[in-house]
Amino acid sequence: MLIFTSLWHIFWLAFSNLCMWGIYHLEHPFFERYKINTMPWPWNENRQEWNILLKKSLKTCFFNSFVCVPLTLIGTLYSDNFVVAYDFSVENLPDWKTFAANITFCMLCEDVAFHFMHRFLHWKVIYPYIHKQHHQYITTISIAAEYSHPIDYVFGALIPGSLGGIILGRRMHFVTFLLWSLMRTSETLDGHCGYEFSWSPYRLIPFSTSAAYHDFHHSHNVGNYSSFFSFWDTLFAQNKDYYQFQEKTKELIEKLEKEKEAFNEQVNKKLQDDAPSKRATEELEETLKED
Ligand SMILES: *[C@@H]1O[C@H](CO)[C@@H](O)[C@H](O)[C@H]1NC(C)=O
Repeated sequence: MLIFTSLWHIFWLAFSNLCMWGIYHLEHPFFERYKINTMPWPWNENRQEWNILLKKSLKTCFFNSFVCVPLTLIGTLYSDNFVVAYDFSVENLPDWKTFAANITFCMLCEDVAFHFMHRFLHWKVIYPYIHKQHHQYITTISIAAEYSHPIDYVFGALIPGSLGGIILGRRMHFVTFLLWSLMRTSETLDGHCGYEFSWSPYRLIPFSTSAAYHDFHHSHNVGNYSSFFSFWDTLFAQNKDYYQFQEKTKELIEKLEKEKEAFNEQVNKKLQDDAPSKRATEELEETLKED
């Protein structure tokens, strides 16, 4: 069960990253219009630096997936005297209501634990030693999602993610647990992918954060700490910088739009002023043709 669950995570992580790799290199307008910021992708910015970071990222993700995940699973999955701590029976397979309730519970537990752990990891005394590694990515791409120091990965991601399951234990079906872990992994990939897909299913969650939300966290390295829901950030005013930034961007866009309109008006006016001479030229051409 340990091996199956570890592989479940690794396959999903690798598959998602490969899909995203395809999307990044396709550079198709359909996807590019969702890109969050105008910075180039890291491989287009500095190939050499990117190759070094990519190698390091792959190594880190490999270590996290093959060592940290199984170790944390041993701690959580087999917490009950080495008997798997979840419901396994086929007759207890959850209906969608139970499933939704358990997943919501896991999301709320994860979100609380993640928010405060994440803020703790940003505490300047310990930040340089652990969480700084994850922030090597200033613009986010999917591989950045699980690129973090092993301590960061276990305490900042895996344990908050497992918290709901630890509390529910045998009241949660193993299938629910598997789908929850898949959902959590996808959420962090979605949050780091560098695109704000308006059709991302995670945007349907009430008080949902977004990829742009988390991209702001990476580019400004402050505020917007939460994973699923924005309410802890709002409660502790950790997203006011982001909202101010959003407000400023909006104002700038409006200003530019106005300038563009004024410019277009000028051009149109000039064209109209020039219309008589244009008509004269056309008439001349006509007469020349007739001759
Ligand atoms: C989770 O599901 C179980 C049934 O599998 C149910 O008894 C329990 O109340 C649910 N818990 C929550 C918090 O949704």
